[in-house]
Amino acid sequence: MRHILVGNWKNFPNSIQEAETLISTLSKSSRAFKNNKISLFLAPPTPFLDLVNKKAKRFSSLAIQDLPISPIGTYTGEITLDMIKSFGPKVTILGHSERRALGESDEGVSMKARMALKAGMVPIICVGEEVHDHEGNYFQFLSEQIRASLRGVKKEEAKNVILAYEPVWAVGAKSKGSMDGAELAQMVLFIKKVLTEMFSRGVAEKMAIIYGGSVDENNAHSLLKQSRARGLLVGRVSLDAKKFIALAKSLAK
Ligand code: PGA
Repeated sequence: MRHILVGNWKNFPNSIQEAETLISTLSKSSRAFKNNKISLFLAPPTPFLDLVNKKAKRFSSLAIQDLPISPIGTYTGEITLDMIKSFGPKVTILGHSERRALGESDEGVSMKARMALKAGMVPIICVGEEVHDHEGNYFQFLSEQIRASLRGVKKEEAKNVILAYEPVWAVGAKSKGSMDGAELAQMVLFIKKVLTEMFSRGVAEKMAIIYGGSVDENNAHSLLKQSRARGLLVGRVSLDAKKFIALAKSLAK
C-alpha cells in the first residue's frame, strides 16, 4: 500500500521566490517520492497554489490547508471554494490544531468535512489532545473530538476521509517532540476502535489514519513501521527540501 505523505507549509515560505526554489529542489529529486511508493500531497498557502499546481503536478497532488466557506457575494477580502477549486486541489486539511487555536470548533470542522466531500475532495481531519496526561484522560477527549468532528459524515462517505492524529503537544518547534512509534501504534488502534463504533469495522479499515507532530527524516520510518498509521503529516521538515527528500527516501528501508 502507498504511504500518504502530506507537506503542510502553513504560512511559509515568505516569498514566491522561496516557494519557487523549494519546488524546483523537490522537483529535481522527485524520484524519491515516486520510487518509494509515496502519494505526496503539498499544502501551500493560498498565494502559492497556482505555482505548486503548475510546477509540482508531476510528482504531487495539491492540497489546501482549510476549506473557505464564504458564500458567493460581495464580501471584500474573502475567497470562495469555487475559486480554490479552479486550482484542482484533491485534498483539504481541516481542524488543524493551529486553526482550532484560532477558534475553529468541532462543528465547524464537521460542516467543512461534509462540504469537502460534496465537492469531491478528501478531508484530512486533524484531531489530537493537548496534554498526554498519566491518567489517560486523552482517550476520552480524543473519542469525543473524533465523533464531533465527523458528525453528519455518512457511512458510505467515511471511507474517503483521512484522519490525522496530531497530538498538540508534539506539533511545532516549541513542542516536546514526536510521539514514539510504540505509543503511536496504541493510539492508532484506539482511533480505529472509535471509527468502528461510529461506522463499521469494514469502513474503519478503509479509513486511513496518518500521524503528524515533529516528524522528520530520522523518525518517519520507525513511526510508520511500528504502527498501523498509513502516512505522515509533516510541517517544518516539508519546508526543507533536503530533509523532506531524505524523509521520503527513509520510508523505503
Ligand atoms: P511539525 O508540524 O511537523 O512542524 O511538528 C506538523 C503539523 O503542524 O501538521
